[in-house]
Amino acid sequence: MKTLIRYATVVFPDAVLQANILIEDHRILAVDAAEHSRADEVVDARGLFLLPGVIDDQVHFREPGLTHKEDLWHASRACAKGGVTSFLEMPNTKPPTTSRARLYEKLQLASQRSAVNYGFYIGATGENIEELRRADRTPGIKIFIGSSTGELLVDDQAALERIFAETTLPIAAHCEDEATIRQNAGSLPRPWSVADHSRIRDHRAAWIGTRRATELARRHRHRLHVLHVSTGAELELLKEHANVITAEVCPHHLFFNMEDYPRLGTRIQMNPSVKTAEDNRMLWQALLDGTIQVIATDHAPHTLEEKAKPYPDSPSGLPAVENSLALMLDQVNRGRCTLSQVVRWMCENPARVWDIVGKGCIAPGYDADLVLVDMHKEAEIRDEEQWTKCRWSPWHGTRLQGWPVRTWVMGRLVFDRGKINDQVRGSEIIFDHSRGGFWAAQDYP
Ligand code: DOR
Repeated sequence: MKTLIRYATVVFPDAVLQANILIEDHRILAVDAAEHSRADEVVDARGLFLLPGVIDDQVHFREPGLTHKEDLWHASRACAKGGVTSFLEMPNTKPPTTSRARLYEKLQLASQRSAVNYGFYIGATGENIEELRRADRTPGIKIFIGSSTGELLVDDQAALERIFAETTLPIAAHCEDEATIRQNAGSLPRPWSVADHSRIRDHRAAWIGTRRATELARRHRHRLHVLHVSTGAELELLKEHANVITAEVCPHHLFFNMEDYPRLGTRIQMNPSVKTAEDNRMLWQALLDGTIQVIATDHAPHTLEEKAKPYPDSPSGLPAVENSLALMLDQVNRGRCTLSQVVRWMCENPARVWDIVGKGCIAPGYDADLVLVDMHKEAEIRDEEQWTKCRWSPWHGTRLQGWPVRTWVMGRLVFDRGKINDQVRGSEIIFDHSRGGFWAAQDYP
């Protein structure tokens, strides 16, 4: 099967040019094909931009065990709609993904249910070091250094030392300091309101958590990816140990802050918490100057019913996969960054950080995971139009300019102007950890 995408403006790693892309089966065959190349399907993409599919390296899709909130089928369709062609999912499901057997079960489940490409982290418990050492078919080890949804937590220093010393897979860490969180909670008068979430999970908790993780990475020379950085203060820690450490920021930490609690309440209750407008500004700056390399969503759905419980009974987390790319395209239209930068943060860099084979850029031989975007299209995010199972978005009512209109996964058109092709299934993402990660990557065109 051959598809020709003609006349699109293509975002290549080092240029943005009009080109004709020829896809054969699941791969990109040529990026400079003749406009009349023989193909089974020809797409005229005049006036549209073609990007590599987004790789979201932090999502919570809740299957198995929490499927009243979300499941692989809904979440992966939401991904396709949002231009996300690959996801890396976190282990805090029920049961948690803390052994190879559970990891393989998830891979098997996803092969039947996911519309986009998939990978799953293995979670650290403090007692499963042998599983962590022997795990394969995974981007890496997830450690919750601070507690969040679910029971996974490793905050004991000796247990952390062992994981960093005795395992080799890259580590992704949720960096908030549990002792500081508990101390803050203990000293804050009750009753609490949702704004207290940012006082309990405060700047200090984030900074100490990130310092613990970055110290461990430096001492053990162990690759570390700091998930969802939420404060400007953490940035200095990332710069200090740059050669083994990468980091990411989420859209909610770029776009929301404590001043939004009166308007949005528990919809923006997240771990780490949202912080201040100055943190928003500093995190943007960190993306622009390369201190933070990746944008991921931390898509963490809960039902609106659960979110309506009074704080602190309301759970932390918000959904985002179907809007993350549009949120960033809108920023491009506002002149805050370029399309090439968005592609670097959301496609190319996640592929490098996690040693993903054949993804992250548009080049011959790479997988045909592609998204066509219309930079003129304007639409408002509406709760009732969300495809995620929980059917709401913290950006409800926000109008954006710049939207994905078509998405291909491994050469197959899975999303086409509002419609899903339910026949398409994603593939297991292949990781080659011998590449050595972001700082060692040399194999991109
Ligand atoms: O707020 C959050 N919710 N942060 C996380 O890191 C986990 C997530 C969840 O799974 O609900």
